[in-house]
Amino acid sequence: ALERTLSIIKPDAVAKNVIGEIYARFEKAGLKIVAAKMKHLSRKEAEGFYAVHKERPFFNALVEFMISGPVMIQALEGDNAILKHRDLMGATNPKDAAPGTIRADFADSIDANAVHGSDAAETAAVEIAYFFATTETFSR
Ligand code: CMP
Repeated sequence: ALERTLSIIKPDAVAKNVIGEIYARFEKAGLKIVAAKMKHLSRKEAEGFYAVHKERPFFNALVEFMISGPVMIQALEGDNAILKHRDLMGATNPKDAAPGTIRADFADSIDANAVHGSDAAETAAVEIAYFFATTETFSR
């Protein structure tokens, strides 16, 4: 089915100057960028985005990392986009990420793991709406 998913290129990957390399992987896999913005998240924005994790032991480190520099945020659209994007990213912990995945190639640790992607259709809708107004997304 045609789906949309939210993708964030995290501060570590932005600092490594690999936004374009990661975008190329999305496009080669048939995912279209239908919205995009670079942003330096405030603490409140990062805490709100990751609110589902607020009781987890890694929450504070996660928020600190996500506000450590600008991120590149995009909505991706395509057939089976949510799973396709997760396959491109690889496992959350780069130590477990399959060769050739974004995290295997660009991530250094489970905290600095290069990218975020929505995990299901319901979260994708919430996460896209968190960063983009409908007038800022473009199907084509
Ligand atoms: P992300 O997909 O952005 O969602 C939550 C983030 O928390 C995750 O990627 C990791 O970068 C980070 N994180 C740190 N420790 C853990 C952990 N033990 N389990 C899951 N996520 C973790």
